[in-house]
Amino acid sequence: MKQEEKILTASDWIREAEKVAVLTGAGVSAESGVPTFRGADGLWKKYKATDLATPEAFNRNPELVWDFYNWRRELISKVKPNPAHFALVDLERKKSDFILITQNVDGLHQEAGSENVLEIHGSIWRVKCTRCEFQAEDRRVPLPKLPTCPQCGALLRPAVVWFGEALDFHILERAFQASKECDLMLVVGTSAVVHPAASLSLEAKSSGARVIEINLEETPQTSLLDLTILGKAGEILPEIVKLV
Ligand code: OAD
Repeated sequence: MKQEEKILTASDWIREAEKVAVLTGAGVSAESGVPTFRGADGLWKKYKATDLATPEAFNRNPELVWDFYNWRRELISKVKPNPAHFALVDLERKKSDFILITQNVDGLHQEAGSENVLEIHGSIWRVKCTRCEFQAEDRRVPLPKLPTCPQCGALLRPAVVWFGEALDFHILERAFQASKECDLMLVVGTSAVVHPAASLSLEAKSSGARVIEINLEETPQTSLLDLTILGKAGEILPEIVKLV
């Protein structure tokens, strides 16, 4: 199928669908200037995830982990949502039953105006206590070195999901439910290798939904899905949404 034909097909399928779910990954924010995790310039090429994004790493060296998160907070505070984020805002306005499930922690979907967003990997703009239940939004850039809990004085950590940690049960349950119920899922800018996030598209597919993937390159799921459109999310998504 030619690219224009794929874009037309995608917009037809979205128009026909009653319930639309979108799953996004780091590729959606790449054109805003937020580094992705995998691929040539990916964060996990330069740094070891096990040094920076695991509970063990934080126990061992909280200062190093906070330096990494403060660096990312500063970087993200300076960037803006791109046409991919805005196209998903338009799509939400066009479809009455719409959910956006994101693996991104940068908050750019909400900044663009998306409303029904499930952040399954947490948010870089939230902190939570390592001891008590305290959790809050904190947008200070940079945060004080080794920030502490206003309730109990223990060390605060970023409210993001690290490798080896379970996702929030209720959020994950809602994400699986939405994937099961949707008629159409758009999977945008994710390498589809980190589970359980990567299982959501397979859940949608096995429950009978059409699943469309938008990515710069093929992923391990490409052959299992209904349609893959190769290209930049910031270019492809606005073209599709314009036609819905
Ligand atoms: P990855 O960095 O693994 O994958 C990004 C994907 O986006 C790749 O498949 C790229 O080909 C694609 N991509 C890059 N630029 C793009 C563009 N402009 N348009 C379309 N696609 C583009 O990011 P994720 O799949 O989000 O987890 O990674 C999943 C999780 O692994 C993250 O949430 C994070 C990470 O470790 C945690 O922190 C728990």
